[in-house]
Amino acid sequence: MRLLVTFLAAAGAVQPEVPWIGRHALKAAEEHEAVAQVAAESSKASHEALLSAQAALSARDAARQSRDFLSAQVDPREAIQKELDQARDWAQEARAYASHAEQTFAEMRSECLRTLGPCCAGLWTIMDPKGERLYCAALPPAVAPLPACLRRPARVAFDGAAYDLRAAAVEVLEKAQLGSWKSDRLEEYTAPGEIFRCFRVRQALHRCVEESTGFLEVYERLVQKVLVPWLKQQAELSERTRFSYQFPPTLRLQPGNSEEFKRPHRDAEYGHQVGELNFWMPLTDYSLTRSTLWVESEPGKGDYQPLEMSYGEIAVFHGTLCRHHVPANSSPFCRISMDFRIGVGEFFDPHWTLKGVKHIHQRREIWL
Ligand SMILES: [Fe+2]
Repeated sequence: MRLLVTFLAAAGAVQPEVPWIGRHALKAAEEHEAVAQVAAESSKASHEALLSAQAALSARDAARQSRDFLSAQVDPREAIQKELDQARDWAQEARAYASHAEQTFAEMRSECLRTLGPCCAGLWTIMDPKGERLYCAALPPAVAPLPACLRRPARVAFDGAAYDLRAAAVEVLEKAQLGSWKSDRLEEYTAPGEIFRCFRVRQALHRCVEESTGFLEVYERLVQKVLVPWLKQQAELSERTRFSYQFPPTLRLQPGNSEEFKRPHRDAEYGHQVGELNFWMPLTDYSLTRSTLWVESEPGKGDYQPLEMSYGEIAVFHGTLCRHHVPANSSPFCRISMDFRIGVGEFFDPHWTLKGVKHIHQRREIWL
């Protein structure tokens, strides 16, 4: 009421004449308002006190329950231990749920890639940018850029019988004892799923390759007699040139009936420099596995094409900058391939390494 009168006065309204009974009523109302304010403050304080008292009661109650619980136990220490064990079990269960959630996420990602294709895979590339950051932050090797004629995708044919890498691979896998054979065909080799992605299992296979002199002899002969002369001719290098090739090469197995895939990436993210070229070849029959490497034709172009090729052919591409990926192998057959890199002459700096990269391929040199 006082507010209404004040408002009317402030607004310039004519203040009605208040008779003495009215003034009396106004005064009484103001007193009631003051009492109400005191009551409200008191109520607020009481409410807070009540909450505080309830909290104290709850704490006392919890303490009493704990005390009663422990006093009812024959061995309180054992009871406490039991409670702690229970808490640990719950924590363990929570970790299992978290792990399951991660697995579900990976499966969803895999399904997403399977249904939406490589354009979606690009998103995951963005989500795993560590190698990209390392490469961008590094000083590039002080060498001339690789000639354009070498950076273009190409194919090289070789005599699969004279350089029998399939037979050599069988020997490697027999020694490795990482899987089993359904028949004597490479495509029917049964390997554990981890061989495609698990670093520890891949390293076990890598060590077997390192020790397989027969396999390495065929590989080196192929590099020296076929690929290095091809490179020299392709780049029209007339002078004696040094070629630095990965030794040993990488043997890769992608078991079938699996959703495991390799995300699109550039090898620059893994410490490779622009002066080297990628060589990739299937050892298994593509018509059976239908699984292969997909490569873009130029850096960043995103026009991924599958390397549809048979044993006896080698794909050459500038994988340091051109992105490539492997979709899941849904066939019942195992895909086995081999890949390696060759650094060319003055365009390759053998002493350059990408700081922060742990795994570096060993190399050998040949002059031609
Ligand atoms: Fe790669």
